[in-house]
Amino acid sequence: MSGLENFAAIAAGLPDPFRLLLKQSVASTNDEVRILAENGTQEGLIVLAHQQTAGRGRRGAAWFSPPGESLAFSVLLKPDEPKALWPRLALATGLAVAEAIETVVPLAGIKWPNDIWIRQKKIAGILVEAGRDFVVVGIGLNINTLDFPPEVSDIATSLARETGEPVSRSEIFAAIIRRLDHRRHQIGAGFEEILSAVRLRCVLTGNAISLLTPTGYREGICEGIAPGGELKLRTETGLETYLQADEIRLI
Ligand code: BTN
Repeated sequence: MSGLENFAAIAAGLPDPFRLLLKQSVASTNDEVRILAENGTQEGLIVLAHQQTAGRGRRGAAWFSPPGESLAFSVLLKPDEPKALWPRLALATGLAVAEAIETVVPLAGIKWPNDIWIRQKKIAGILVEAGRDFVVVGIGLNINTLDFPPEVSDIATSLARETGEPVSRSEIFAAIIRRLDHRRHQIGAGFEEILSAVRLRCVLTGNAISLLTPTGYREGICEGIAPGGELKLRTETGLETYLQADEIRLI
């Protein structure tokens, strides 16, 4: 299977319950995992694709991942914690990805809730989708891409661009799973550990930002992350907190 050979060896060393299903080409790995989850597949399945033909980002945006140059995979989780805490997996996963890429670059930034930035450019995106009794955690990470399409070339980067040399996709993948295996257990007890590590990396804190909230567009100064993982925004009218927001921009 072209481009995926190293992953077969990595698969054997994944911590329990993780197991890897390699696919040459799928529409979206999130959709593949969701279908398997709905058919009763056990927690820990990972679908990793050489190529996605319809990769999805948040809010239905397309996700660009050139075959063989990036990582595109989805993980099936069935957390023991109450469902109300599952949104915290967005922070846990962002942190796991940041920690994994810090094996090859210095401190990675987290743009709440879970975009990963290096030098103000996006290097990874995460799409967390919950089902009735499962969560699909989809991760897209730019690894060896040097040339991005013109519409994103000013706002996207890759590990190879940052380090100046090719980076092993399979080793970064294994590091992400190891970190995710640790962080996924901290969405209940231990969430303070996730919070302090995310706060250290949060690129919004202290900056003027705009965001789309469930009640419309808001602007203000980001005052960091609240104890429940919500974004704190100081506006003209006072302090607001948001569990969900989109289109978050530094202004
Ligand atoms: C975002 O930044 O908007 C999230 C991007 C998530 C992309 C990943 S790639 C693997 C998985 N499959 C998808 O279709 N999307 C996620």
